[in-house]
Amino acid sequence: MTQPPAGDELKACCAAAYSSDVVALLLGDSYHPGGTALTRRLADGLALTPGARVLDVASGRGTTALLLAGAYGAEVDGVDYSAANTALAQGAAQAAGLADRARFTTGDAEQLPYPDGVFKAVVCECALCTFPDKTQAAAEFARVLKPGGRLGITDVTIDAARPPSELTGLGARIACIADARPLDEYSEILAAAGLRTLHTEHHDQALLRMIDQIEARLNLLRMTAPTRLTDAGVDLDSAPAVLAAARTAVADGALGYALLIGEKPRPTA
Ligand SMILES: C[S@@+](CC[C@H](N)C(=O)[O-])C[C@H]1O[C@@H](n2cnc3c(N)ncnc32)[C@H](O)[C@@H]1O
Repeated sequence: MTQPPAGDELKACCAAAYSSDVVALLLGDSYHPGGTALTRRLADGLALTPGARVLDVASGRGTTALLLAGAYGAEVDGVDYSAANTALAQGAAQAAGLADRARFTTGDAEQLPYPDGVFKAVVCECALCTFPDKTQAAAEFARVLKPGGRLGITDVTIDAARPPSELTGLGARIACIADARPLDEYSEILAAAGLRTLHTEHHDQALLRMIDQIEARLNLLRMTAPTRLTDAGVDLDSAPAVLAAARTAVADGALGYALLIGEKPRPTA
């Protein structure tokens, strides 16, 4: 049996998949359930003030970073493993007139290219689930945060006792499912890095809406531009069963989406 890729190869597969135009057609600008509405809810928990330095880890095409820069007045750095996404995000910042407040860099969440203690907040949407070494990524979030700084995560959650057995393998891993963790386990990983969870919320309906949206757009593309899907490696025969399995898993509570606000505690005197 072929072994799934690990480490850098896995990150590169994930970054390549999220650089594809077909993903943009299926997901829109925000590559996470809940879109910018959920990002606003996350931002509201970060106690941001204008001019605060914020890092968006796995910034994709820059949608979260540009919202934080435009609507919250933050000075945002975005870092993503995909050089193509970095270039698209930089272009989007220029088009939005926000290039002076949103900069994008290609880099790895597990080795963040920033000094210690410089950010008032770190956000990471729908990406911790994909990182091969989550403990290392959490340690990096903690390292670059200022004491008292906030962490905002939205991510896929899974019930450890009932992982959806149909949703495994590389495709499911890239689709943020195969290595997702229970919400409590994300908190434990963060706690091991010295980050305290302050607040959590479940947003499973947002995941259902994203599954519905992907299905509708897949059906449209299947009729209008099927070769764009097949050229991008989308298996049109198995897609309906995978989407149905994901929908059932959400309905059964085995798969979900959650928001987490954490904090890097200030040292006690
Ligand atoms: C599901 S998308 C989420 C993008 C963005 N946060 C959003 O919500 O729109 C996952 C992103 O993680 C990036 N990524 C995957 N592994 C990474 C890593 N090790 N370091 C930095 N970015 C990574 C991918 O390139 C992709 O842009």
